Amino acid sequence: MKHFLSTDDWSRKDLERLLQLAGELKQRPMNASLKGRSVALLFLNPSMRTRTSFELGMQQLGGIAIVLQPGKDAWGLEFMPGAVMDGEAEEHIAEAAGVLSRYCDLIALRAFPGFVDWSKDREDSLIKALARHSAVPVINMETIVHPCQELAMMMTLQERMGAVAKRKMVLTWTWHPRPLNTAVANSALMMGTKFGMDVTLLCPQPEYLLDPQFMGAAKANAEANGGSLKISHDIEAAYTSADFVYAKSWGALPYYGKPEEEYEQRKQYRHFIVDEEKMGLTNSGLFSHCLPLRRNIKATDGVMDAPYCLALDEAENRLHVQKALMMELLGADQ
Ligand code: CP
Repeated sequence: MKHFLSTDDWSRKDLERLLQLAGELKQRPMNASLKGRSVALLFLNPSMRTRTSFELGMQQLGGIAIVLQPGKDAWGLEFMPGAVMDGEAEEHIAEAAGVLSRYCDLIALRAFPGFVDWSKDREDSLIKALARHSAVPVINMETIVHPCQELAMMMTLQERMGAVAKRKMVLTWTWHPRPLNTAVANSALMMGTKFGMDVTLLCPQPEYLLDPQFMGAAKANAEANGGSLKISHDIEAAYTSADFVYAKSWGALPYYGKPEEEYEQRKQYRHFIVDEEKMGLTNSGLFSHCLPLRRNIKATDGVMDAPYCLALDEAENRLHVQKALMMELLGADQ
């Protein structure tokens, strides 16, 4: 059984097929290919785009989406094997996944990392536990990667650029008052390199590099797909001649679980904001962000309102790629 836990588990050919189907669904949004089918959407964290696009997407294909927020409107969940459940959680993922598999055809999970111990969180154990216990395909709606977002990023880029191979993509760290999840950055790095782009990871200093499992996957992708992966701490050099700037803020992993210490580092780097001057160094480059975005913190109003900003296109494309994904996982034809 095929799950969608990370784009790293899927071949480029399979991802290209998904993107092709997503493009077709964008032209013809309604069909009944998933009539009578269902997806359970488990949200352990807030969402606007992910929830709306999955719920609506399933409805547009004739199916139904059930939203559950464990710990709020559904029983709190325990994911650890062998746990003695004398804490808050009322139900183990073994039973929750088993039950939902009896009702639903797909199960999707959003489970952000705990921001306490990266050596544990980097294992992505919650979604792996769900996949282990589920009898139906599982979709990652953001854990330590955000594969649906990066499908949407790539669809959006292909719409505007056509072929993306050898185009220069800059994944830039940005300032934000809090240390955020690395998920989108991890996925963007893997996706850009998987499609043969020349990717530069721009971050203030080496402590902001991503986990070696994702740096390594991106390097392997670049080698396999004719692209490249560079690391830069030089804003001007990184932006110069870029075709695409993708922005995200994330916490420095050496300070994971120590936000006050991390803040002492990050407060020096407010100037990593994406602004018109930096975009002026690019090759008439495009810009995007996964959203939500704090304006004039991560990117200026001028950048967000510019014709080269694709953030809304990317958000729309979440709908199309996820419909394609649900159809693919359930073997449905249009
Ligand atoms: N980009 C994204 O996943 O948005 P939400 O957190 O609103 O779902």
